[in-house]
Amino acid sequence: MTPKSTIPAFGVLALLMTGTAAFAADTLTVGFAQVGSESGWRAAETKVAKQKAQQDNVTLKISDAQQKQENEIKAVRSFVAQGVDGIFIAPVVATGWDSVLREAKDANIPVFLLDRQIETSDPSLYTAAVTSDTVLEGHMIGDYLAKITNNKCRIVELQGTVGSSPAINRKKGFGEAIAAHPDMQIVRSQSGDFTRSGGKQVMESFIKAENNGHDICAVFAHNDDMGIGAIQAIKEAGLKPGTDIKVVSIDGVPDMFKAMADGEANGTVELSPNMAGPAFKALIALKTDHTQPQKWIKTPSTLYTPATAQAEYDRRKPLY
Ligand code: AHR
Repeated sequence: MTPKSTIPAFGVLALLMTGTAAFAADTLTVGFAQVGSESGWRAAETKVAKQKAQQDNVTLKISDAQQKQENEIKAVRSFVAQGVDGIFIAPVVATGWDSVLREAKDANIPVFLLDRQIETSDPSLYTAAVTSDTVLEGHMIGDYLAKITNNKCRIVELQGTVGSSPAINRKKGFGEAIAAHPDMQIVRSQSGDFTRSGGKQVMESFIKAENNGHDICAVFAHNDDMGIGAIQAIKEAGLKPGTDIKVVSIDGVPDMFKAMADGEANGTVELSPNMAGPAFKALIALKTDHTQPQKWIKTPSTLYTPATAQAEYDRRKPLY
């Protein structure tokens, strides 16, 4: 499908081993409809995807949708027209994918969802999803916040992009965790669109509405960038983030480890930026010997606290 004139060594090997039509794994071309660059985590995911493509000898075409689903749909159509070997989509929002996915399926192009899930009446429209358990992430950070506040806390919540699966699921998981504690409530909740500036702006309005922040015990941000924005807002209001207002979030980017090491944040659940690696592996296996991947290739979720933050920061900084 990809226009290359020779069959490289691995392709010949595949032919000899399988005795079927040769598929040369090192000629794969993948189109990646990426959300944008709204967060440090997103930038890391794109960087890792490029590194993994190079390691796996895949030609990777990345399109930046600038947080708009219509741009992602256009990109997918263009990848279908180009006849790529696989399509990766990090879906901005969860709904509205069926018709473009049907076009990819009709063209026999496998589609992998990266880091976000979709809602569809026909799951056969995509091959597999490589994501974390985003409900679990919300649950883990909610349980942890309960522990560090003795199950008593007035919480403000900074939600991710409206309609995106991590925003829906992290809210759900966190809500389930704190529901076990009658003295923990979310008193305000609004979207900061997964951006640092959005998180700061919304946190400023929460602080104003909540007795200049004195009535807020903690902020739960659906990602680290909004958490960092909230930290700035808390400081500008003359309060101490991490102490006067606790800060918990999700992603595990270096800036959040730095904030924890400086005593300005209290916890994060790491989301692996390596979503593309497992997807390349699954796509190559599918193409070489028709191995059907698991429908949900789950990446791990790990809670980090200030106790190990400096070491984790030092370890991660060069990778980002
Ligand atoms: O889908 C993953 C989320 O998207 C990350 O938590 C966030 O940083 C990004 O924008």
